Amino acid sequence: MRVRVLPDEASAVALVADRLCEILAAKPDSVLGLATGGTMEPLYAELVTRFRSGHVSFAQAKSFNLDEYVGMGPDHPQSYHHFMQRRFFDHVDFQPGANHLPDGASPDPAQAADAYEASIRDAGGIDLQILGIGRNGHIGFNEPHGSLCSRTRVETLAPSTREANQRFFSEDQTPPRQAVTVGLATIMDARRVILLATGQDKNWAVHAALEGPVSTRTPASVLQTHPDATIVLDRMAASALEFEDRHALA
Ligand code: PGA
Repeated sequence: MRVRVLPDEASAVALVADRLCEILAAKPDSVLGLATGGTMEPLYAELVTRFRSGHVSFAQAKSFNLDEYVGMGPDHPQSYHHFMQRRFFDHVDFQPGANHLPDGASPDPAQAADAYEASIRDAGGIDLQILGIGRNGHIGFNEPHGSLCSRTRVETLAPSTREANQRFFSEDQTPPRQAVTVGLATIMDARRVILLATGQDKNWAVHAALEGPVSTRTPASVLQTHPDATIVLDRMAASALEFEDRHALA
């Protein structure tokens, strides 16, 4: 696991965008694993800017997002389908049908989860998985104390996750209790993984994931055993690392 600590959010985002663009330049038909959440908003803005200036094309790529809320159709303004459409897909050149998210609105979400896992496999697996991290150490919606070997499935969200995501909902709405998420084993199958964490509120999760034991307590800690994982942090997200000198500023 490589750890890169950048001085601020903008340079951390730029580094992740650089890597993603390099991978697409080397393999234009890459299968990208994509993430949602506040951390990803500046990354998608940066990728849209690079696309508009002709530095990257997604025309041959495919994408699979990590998760979707159960019970939310693609047109729901808080759905991750809607987030991806508005923040990214509407502004770049993916071909119709190239973007995939779990079907949270399916009458049978467990079956939809199995179908999603199979569709990732059928696409040849993920070349590059982009991840954020929750304050409780989750990746995707793989909450603490699940299985390290999990596959795409329906997951019950931790109270702290619903609380953290309340900021995306209006006062009279609460985040759903369940989501369809790819599993930790699905993430570990990706050929490369880049986790981006910015801001002080992620520093304990980052410390636990990088310097704690590999444990279901901190799902992101499983990345310690991934053969090609890069953790990209700004200074604030790195501020609780005990062995910070090992992760000198990039
Ligand atoms: P955030 O979410 O980027 O909105 O903090 C990250 C996550 O929960 O994985």
